[in-house]
Amino acid sequence: MTIPFTAFIGGVRINSPAVMAPIAGITDRPFRRLVMEHGAGLCVTELLSANAIVRDSKKTFEMFPAPGEPGPVAVQVFGAEAGVMRDACSIVEERAPCDIIDLNFGCPVKKVAKTGAGAAMLKDVGNAAKVVEAVVGAVKKPVTVKIRIGWDFNSVNAVDMTMAAEEAGVAAVIIHGRTASQGYSGKADWDIIAKAAQAVKIPVIGNGDIVTPEMALSRLKESGCAMVMIGRGALGKPWIFRQVNEMMSAGSYTHPSHQEIGKLILRHLEMMVELYGQSAGIRKMRAHFAYYIRGVKSGSRLRQELNKASEHEGVKRLIAEYFA
Ligand SMILES: Cc1cc2nc3c(=O)[nH]c(=O)nc-3n(C[C@H](O)[C@H](O)[C@H](O)COP(=O)(O)O)c2cc1C
Repeated sequence: MTIPFTAFIGGVRINSPAVMAPIAGITDRPFRRLVMEHGAGLCVTELLSANAIVRDSKKTFEMFPAPGEPGPVAVQVFGAEAGVMRDACSIVEERAPCDIIDLNFGCPVKKVAKTGAGAAMLKDVGNAAKVVEAVVGAVKKPVTVKIRIGWDFNSVNAVDMTMAAEEAGVAAVIIHGRTASQGYSGKADWDIIAKAAQAVKIPVIGNGDIVTPEMALSRLKESGCAMVMIGRGALGKPWIFRQVNEMMSAGSYTHPSHQEIGKLILRHLEMMVELYGQSAGIRKMRAHFAYYIRGVKSGSRLRQELNKASEHEGVKRLIAEYFA
Protein backbone atom coordinates (compact mmCIF):
# COMPACT_ATOMS: atom_id res chain seq x y z
CA MET A 1 0.00 0.00 0.00
CA THR A 2 1.40 3.42 -0.89
CA ILE A 3 0.48 5.96 1.73
CA PRO A 4 0.51 9.59 0.65
CA PHE A 5 2.54 10.53 3.69
CA THR A 6 6.15 11.14 4.68
CA ALA A 7 7.50 13.02 7.67
CA PHE A 8 10.88 13.30 9.29
CA ILE A 9 11.94 13.36 12.92
CA GLY A 10 15.46 14.69 12.56
CA GLY A 11 16.76 12.50 9.74
CA VAL A 12 14.45 9.61 10.57
CA ARG A 13 11.81 8.97 7.96
CA ILE A 14 8.29 8.23 9.22
CA ASN A 15 5.93 6.51 6.79
CA SER A 16 2.59 6.79 8.55
CA PRO A 17 0.83 9.70 10.23
CA ALA A 18 -0.09 7.40 13.14
CA VAL A 19 2.53 6.28 15.65
CA MET A 20 2.29 3.93 18.63
CA ALA A 21 2.39 5.42 22.13
CA PRO A 22 4.70 4.05 24.80
CA ILE A 23 2.69 2.01 27.31
CA ALA A 24 4.46 0.48 30.30
CA GLY A 25 3.75 -3.24 30.53
CA ILE A 26 2.52 -3.36 26.91
CA THR A 27 4.92 -1.90 24.35
CA ASP A 28 7.60 -4.55 24.71
CA ARG A 29 9.43 -6.15 21.77
CA PRO A 30 6.58 -8.46 20.65
CA PHE A 31 3.90 -5.77 20.74
CA ARG A 32 6.15 -3.24 19.00
CA ARG A 33 6.86 -5.77 16.24
CA LEU A 34 3.11 -6.32 15.75
CA VAL A 35 2.23 -2.64 15.46
CA MET A 36 5.14 -1.98 13.10
CA GLU A 37 4.05 -4.89 10.92
CA HIS A 38 0.62 -3.27 10.87
CA GLY A 39 2.02 -0.02 9.52
CA ALA A 40 2.64 2.19 12.56
CA GLY A 41 4.95 5.07 11.67
CA LEU A 42 7.03 4.73 14.83
CA CYS A 43 6.97 2.88 18.12
CA VAL A 44 8.47 3.66 21.50
CA THR A 45 9.77 1.39 24.27
CA GLU A 46 8.27 1.42 27.74
CA LEU A 47 9.75 4.15 29.94
CA LEU A 48 13.25 3.24 31.15
CA SER A 49 14.96 4.73 34.18
CA ALA A 50 18.04 6.87 33.51
CA ASN A 51 19.33 5.92 36.96
CA ALA A 52 18.97 2.22 36.18
CA ILE A 53 20.76 2.68 32.84
CA VAL A 54 23.77 4.43 34.37
CA ARG A 55 23.83 1.75 37.10
CA ASP A 56 24.22 -0.86 34.35
CA SER A 57 20.91 -2.59 35.11
CA LYS A 58 20.75 -5.78 33.06
CA LYS A 59 16.97 -5.86 33.43
CA THR A 60 16.68 -2.40 31.88
CA PHE A 61 19.05 -3.25 29.02
CA GLU A 62 16.83 -6.22 28.25
CA MET A 63 14.06 -3.72 27.53
CA PHE A 64 16.11 -2.06 24.78
CA PRO A 65 14.96 -2.83 21.24
CA ALA A 66 16.28 -6.07 19.78
CA PRO A 67 18.85 -5.95 16.99
CA GLY A 68 16.98 -6.01 13.68
CA GLU A 69 13.68 -5.06 15.27
CA PRO A 70 11.40 -3.32 12.75
CA GLY A 71 11.67 0.44 13.16
CA PRO A 72 11.77 3.30 13.46
CA VAL A 73 11.83 2.76 17.19
CA ALA A 74 12.47 5.25 19.98
CA VAL A 75 13.86 4.40 23.40
CA GLN A 76 12.12 6.39 26.13
CA VAL A 77 14.13 7.51 29.16
CA PHE A 78 12.97 9.23 32.35
CA GLY A 79 15.07 10.99 34.94
CA ALA A 80 15.36 14.29 36.77
CA GLU A 81 19.00 15.25 36.65
CA ALA A 82 20.65 16.67 33.55
CA GLY A 83 23.94 14.83 34.14
CA VAL A 84 22.31 11.46 34.70
CA MET A 85 19.97 11.93 31.73
CA ARG A 86 22.93 12.90 29.52
CA ASP A 87 24.97 9.86 30.59
CA ALA A 88 22.01 7.48 30.33
CA CYS A 89 21.12 8.70 26.83
CA SER A 90 24.75 8.36 25.73
CA ILE A 91 24.63 4.72 26.87
CA VAL A 92 21.33 4.25 25.02
CA GLU A 93 22.88 5.67 21.87
CA GLU A 94 25.86 3.36 22.18
CA ARG A 95 24.09 0.16 23.19
CA ALA A 96 20.47 0.24 22.07
CA PRO A 97 19.59 -0.45 18.44
CA CYS A 98 17.23 2.52 18.11
CA ASP A 99 16.53 5.46 15.85
CA ILE A 100 15.34 8.11 18.29
CA ILE A 101 15.76 8.90 21.99
CA ASP A 102 12.60 10.14 23.69
CA LEU A 103 12.57 11.91 27.04
CA ASN A 104 9.58 11.25 29.27
CA PHE A 105 8.28 14.54 30.71
CA GLY A 106 4.74 13.26 31.15
CA CYS A 107 4.54 10.32 33.53
CA PRO A 108 2.24 11.26 36.45
CA VAL A 109 2.91 8.11 38.50
CA LYS A 110 3.97 9.08 42.04
CA LYS A 111 7.03 6.84 42.11
CA VAL A 112 8.38 8.74 39.09
CA ALA A 113 7.08 12.29 39.66
CA LYS A 114 8.13 12.49 43.32
CA THR A 115 11.76 12.20 42.20
CA GLY A 116 11.29 15.27 39.99
CA ALA A 117 11.18 13.13 36.83
CA GLY A 118 8.35 12.45 34.35
CA ALA A 119 5.55 15.00 34.51
CA ALA A 120 7.27 16.83 37.40
CA MET A 121 9.66 18.17 34.74
CA LEU A 122 6.74 20.31 33.53
CA LYS A 123 6.88 22.36 36.74
CA ASP A 124 10.05 24.14 35.67
CA VAL A 125 10.42 24.90 31.97
CA GLY A 126 13.94 26.32 32.44
CA ASN A 127 15.18 23.17 34.16
CA ALA A 128 13.47 20.95 31.59
CA ALA A 129 15.25 22.89 28.82
CA LYS A 130 18.58 22.34 30.58
CA VAL A 131 17.99 18.60 30.70
CA VAL A 132 17.08 18.57 27.00
CA GLU A 133 20.17 20.62 26.11
CA ALA A 134 22.41 18.26 28.06
CA VAL A 135 21.03 15.25 26.20
CA VAL A 136 20.93 16.88 22.76
CA GLY A 137 24.54 18.01 23.24
CA ALA A 138 25.67 14.47 24.05
CA VAL A 139 23.98 12.29 21.41
CA LYS A 140 23.82 12.28 17.61
CA LYS A 141 20.43 10.59 17.30
CA PRO A 142 17.32 12.78 17.16
CA VAL A 143 15.91 13.54 20.60
CA THR A 144 12.19 13.98 21.22
CA VAL A 145 10.24 14.85 24.38
CA LYS A 146 6.84 13.55 25.38
CA ILE A 147 4.95 16.00 27.56
CA ARG A 148 1.50 16.61 28.97
CA ILE A 149 -0.20 20.00 28.61
CA GLY A 150 0.93 20.96 32.11
CA TRP A 151 1.22 19.77 35.70
CA ASP A 152 -2.32 20.90 36.60
CA PHE A 153 -5.01 23.24 35.30
CA ASN A 154 -3.33 26.20 37.05
CA SER A 155 -0.09 25.63 35.23
CA VAL A 156 -0.94 24.65 31.67
CA ASN A 157 2.29 25.37 29.79
CA ALA A 158 2.41 23.07 26.77
CA VAL A 159 3.05 25.96 24.36
CA ASP A 160 5.96 27.34 26.42
CA MET A 161 7.33 23.88 27.00
CA THR A 162 7.14 22.98 23.29
CA MET A 163 8.88 26.22 22.30
CA ALA A 164 11.58 25.70 24.94
CA ALA A 165 12.13 22.14 23.78
CA GLU A 166 12.49 23.31 20.17
CA GLU A 167 14.97 25.97 21.25
CA ALA A 168 16.89 23.34 23.23
CA GLY A 169 17.28 21.25 20.08
CA VAL A 170 14.67 18.49 20.06
CA ALA A 171 13.58 17.04 16.72
CA ALA A 172 9.90 16.69 17.69
CA VAL A 173 7.54 17.10 20.64
CA ILE A 174 4.81 14.63 21.55
CA ILE A 175 1.93 16.15 23.50
CA HIS A 176 -0.61 14.17 25.49
CA GLY A 177 -3.50 16.62 25.87
CA ARG A 178 -4.09 16.10 29.59
CA THR A 179 -2.53 17.62 32.67
CA ALA A 180 -0.57 15.32 34.97
CA SER A 181 -3.16 15.87 37.70
CA GLN A 182 -5.85 14.48 35.39
CA GLY A 183 -4.13 11.13 35.12
CA TYR A 184 -6.19 9.41 32.43
CA SER A 185 -9.56 10.91 33.32
CA GLY A 186 -11.42 13.69 31.55
CA LYS A 187 -10.70 14.47 27.92
CA ALA A 188 -7.52 15.36 26.07
CA ASP A 189 -7.47 19.06 25.15
CA TRP A 190 -6.66 19.16 21.44
CA ASP A 191 -7.00 22.97 21.25
CA ILE A 192 -3.87 23.34 23.35
CA ILE A 193 -2.09 20.71 21.27
CA ALA A 194 -3.03 22.70 18.13
CA LYS A 195 -1.69 25.95 19.65
CA ALA A 196 1.61 24.28 20.49
CA ALA A 197 1.84 22.80 16.97
CA GLN A 198 1.36 26.28 15.50
CA ALA A 199 4.01 27.81 17.73
CA VAL A 200 6.97 25.79 16.43
CA LYS A 201 8.60 24.60 13.21
CA ILE A 202 9.51 21.10 14.39
CA PRO A 203 6.91 18.33 14.08
CA VAL A 204 4.42 18.06 16.91
CA ILE A 205 2.77 14.70 17.52
CA GLY A 206 -0.67 15.00 19.11
CA ASN A 207 -1.90 12.35 21.51
CA GLY A 208 -5.00 11.57 23.50
CA ASP A 209 -8.23 9.61 23.13
CA ILE A 210 -7.86 8.52 19.48
CA VAL A 211 -9.69 5.21 19.12
CA THR A 212 -10.71 5.04 15.45
CA PRO A 213 -8.98 5.67 12.10
CA GLU A 214 -11.53 8.43 11.42
CA MET A 215 -10.55 10.19 14.64
CA ALA A 216 -6.86 9.83 13.82
CA LEU A 217 -7.28 11.61 10.49
CA SER A 218 -9.63 14.30 11.76
CA ARG A 219 -7.35 15.10 14.72
CA LEU A 220 -4.41 15.25 12.33
CA LYS A 221 -6.21 17.70 10.05
CA GLU A 222 -7.81 19.87 12.72
CA SER A 223 -4.79 20.20 14.99
CA GLY A 224 -2.15 20.90 12.35
CA CYS A 225 0.02 18.26 14.01
CA ALA A 226 2.57 16.46 11.84
CA MET A 227 1.49 13.11 13.25
CA VAL A 228 -0.82 11.60 15.83
CA MET A 229 0.00 9.04 18.51
CA ILE A 230 -2.38 6.24 19.48
CA GLY A 231 -2.14 4.47 22.84
CA ARG A 232 -5.09 2.67 24.39
CA GLY A 233 -6.88 2.66 21.03
CA ALA A 234 -4.30 0.17 19.76
CA LEU A 235 -4.59 -2.27 22.66
CA GLY A 236 -5.99 -5.51 21.29
CA LYS A 237 -6.20 -3.70 17.93
CA PRO A 238 -2.68 -3.36 16.51
CA TRP A 239 -4.27 -3.29 13.05
CA ILE A 240 -5.64 0.24 13.72
CA PHE A 241 -2.45 1.59 12.09
CA ARG A 242 -3.09 -0.33 8.85
CA GLN A 243 -6.63 1.04 8.92
CA VAL A 244 -5.41 4.64 9.32
CA ASN A 245 -3.06 4.11 6.37
CA GLU A 246 -5.80 2.53 4.23
CA MET A 247 -8.14 5.37 5.13
CA MET A 248 -5.51 7.90 4.14
CA SER A 249 -4.72 6.28 0.81
CA ALA A 250 -8.13 4.90 -0.21
CA GLY A 251 -10.71 6.68 1.95
CA SER A 252 -11.95 3.46 3.54
CA TYR A 253 -10.57 0.52 5.47
CA THR A 254 -11.24 -3.14 6.17
CA HIS A 255 -11.56 -5.08 9.41
CA PRO A 256 -9.57 -8.21 10.10
CA SER A 257 -11.64 -11.41 9.99
CA HIS A 258 -12.27 -13.54 13.09
CA GLN A 259 -9.67 -16.04 11.77
CA GLU A 260 -7.09 -13.33 11.09
CA ILE A 261 -7.49 -12.05 14.65
CA GLY A 262 -7.00 -15.59 15.96
CA LYS A 263 -3.81 -16.02 13.89
CA LEU A 264 -2.49 -12.70 15.15
CA ILE A 265 -3.13 -13.59 18.81
CA LEU A 266 -1.38 -16.94 18.34
CA ARG A 267 1.63 -15.19 16.80
CA HIS A 268 1.70 -12.67 19.65
CA LEU A 269 1.57 -15.52 22.17
CA GLU A 270 4.39 -17.35 20.36
CA MET A 271 6.62 -14.26 20.53
CA MET A 272 5.81 -13.70 24.22
CA VAL A 273 6.63 -17.30 25.15
CA GLU A 274 9.83 -17.16 23.13
CA LEU A 275 10.97 -13.94 24.81
CA TYR A 276 9.86 -14.48 28.42
CA GLY A 277 9.51 -18.28 28.66
CA GLN A 278 6.24 -20.21 29.07
CA SER A 279 5.17 -19.11 32.53
CA ALA A 280 5.96 -15.36 32.35
CA GLY A 281 5.01 -15.19 28.66
CA ILE A 282 1.52 -16.57 29.32
CA ARG A 283 1.09 -14.42 32.44
CA LYS A 284 2.03 -11.22 30.58
CA MET A 285 -0.13 -12.26 27.62
CA ARG A 286 -3.26 -12.25 29.83
CA ALA A 287 -3.39 -8.43 29.72
CA HIS A 288 -3.39 -8.63 25.92
CA PHE A 289 -6.00 -11.42 25.86
CA ALA A 290 -8.34 -9.14 27.80
CA TYR A 291 -7.98 -6.46 25.11
CA TYR A 292 -8.18 -8.83 22.14
CA ILE A 293 -11.38 -10.44 23.29
CA ARG A 294 -13.08 -7.31 24.58
CA GLY A 295 -16.52 -7.24 23.03
CA VAL A 296 -16.32 -10.63 21.31
CA LYS A 297 -19.11 -13.20 21.70
CA SER A 298 -18.73 -15.33 24.87
CA GLY A 299 -15.54 -13.36 25.52
CA SER A 300 -15.80 -13.43 29.30
CA ARG A 301 -15.97 -17.25 29.35
CA LEU A 302 -12.97 -17.48 27.02
CA ARG A 303 -11.07 -14.99 29.16
CA GLN A 304 -11.74 -16.98 32.31
CA GLU A 305 -10.49 -20.15 30.63
CA LEU A 306 -7.41 -18.35 29.33
CA ASN A 307 -6.66 -16.98 32.79
CA LYS A 308 -6.71 -20.51 34.21
CA ALA A 309 -4.56 -22.09 31.50
CA SER A 310 -0.83 -22.11 32.21
CA GLU A 311 0.51 -24.49 29.53
CA HIS A 312 1.44 -23.04 26.16
CA GLU A 313 -0.28 -25.90 24.26
CA GLY A 314 -3.51 -25.49 26.24
CA VAL A 315 -3.62 -21.72 25.66
CA LYS A 316 -2.95 -22.21 21.96
CA ARG A 317 -5.75 -24.76 21.72
CA LEU A 318 -8.28 -22.46 23.41
CA ILE A 319 -7.50 -19.64 21.00
CA ALA A 320 -7.31 -21.83 17.91
CA GLU A 321 -10.69 -23.42 18.72
CA TYR A 322 -12.39 -20.12 19.49
CA PHE A 323 -11.10 -18.33 16.40
CA ALA A 324 -11.42 -21.33 14.02
C1 LIG B 1 -1.12 1.73 31.36
C2 LIG B 1 -0.47 2.91 30.71
C3 LIG B 1 0.91 2.97 30.70
C4 LIG B 1 1.57 4.06 30.10
N1 LIG B 1 2.94 4.08 30.06
C5 LIG B 1 3.56 5.14 29.48
C6 LIG B 1 4.99 5.20 29.38
O1 LIG B 1 5.71 4.27 29.77
N2 LIG B 1 5.55 6.31 28.82
C7 LIG B 1 4.78 7.35 28.35
O2 LIG B 1 5.31 8.34 27.86
N3 LIG B 1 3.44 7.31 28.40
C8 LIG B 1 2.83 6.23 28.94
N4 LIG B 1 1.46 6.19 28.95
C9 LIG B 1 0.69 7.28 28.31
C10 LIG B 1 0.39 6.96 26.84
O3 LIG B 1 1.58 6.92 26.08
C11 LIG B 1 -0.53 8.02 26.23
O4 LIG B 1 0.10 9.27 26.32
C12 LIG B 1 -1.89 8.10 26.93
O5 LIG B 1 -2.42 6.80 27.15
C13 LIG B 1 -2.90 8.93 26.13
O6 LIG B 1 -3.08 8.39 24.84
P1 LIG B 1 -4.36 7.45 24.47
O7 LIG B 1 -5.59 8.20 24.88
O8 LIG B 1 -4.25 7.25 22.99
O9 LIG B 1 -4.19 6.18 25.25
C14 LIG B 1 0.80 5.11 29.53
C15 LIG B 1 -0.60 5.01 29.53
C16 LIG B 1 -1.24 3.93 30.10
C17 LIG B 1 -2.75 3.87 30.08
